[in-house]
Amino acid sequence: MTVITVCTTCRRTDADPAGPRPGAQLHAALSKAPLPEGVSLRAVECLSACGRGCAVSIGAPGKWSYVYGDIHPETHVDQLLDGAARYHATEDGQIPWRERPEILRKQVIARIPPLPQKSRPQDTQAQDPQAQDLQPPQPQKSERT
Ligand code: FES
Repeated sequence: MTVITVCTTCRRTDADPAGPRPGAQLHAALSKAPLPEGVSLRAVECLSACGRGCAVSIGAPGKWSYVYGDIHPETHVDQLLDGAARYHATEDGQIPWRERPEILRKQVIARIPPLPQKSRPQDTQAQDPQAQDLQPPQPQKSERT
C-alpha cells in the first residue's frame, strides 16, 4: 500500500493568512479526487518542512520514501496523484527520473531509504554477516544531476 501523507497545517506565502490552511485545502482536494489503485491518503500535522508548504510525503513499506514541498493545493493535485500511481507501480519506490511528474523532479526535499525488514539490534552491526541481507536497496543512480 502506497500512502500519500499530507501536512494539513502547512501555510503558503501566497495564501491569505486569515484563510483556510493551504495544507488542509490540499488534503481536501486529494480526498475528493479518485485515488489511484493501491494508494491511500492520510493527514498529519507537520512534516517538519514548514518553510516549503504545502508539504507531502509518498511512501510504502519496503520502498524509498520521498518528501516534497511547495505543493500548490489547486494546481498540483493531478501531478501528485500521477506520481503516487507511478510510485506504487515500482518495486523500490524509485520512479525513473524522466517518468516523474515535474513536481516530483523539482520539488523533492528528502528521500529516505526503506527500513530493514528485521530489526534485531545485532542485525544492524556491520560485522554481522547476516546483516548484509538487511541492508536497504542502494540507488541505481544519482537522483539529481
Ligand atoms: S506545518 Fe506543514 S510541514 Fe510543518
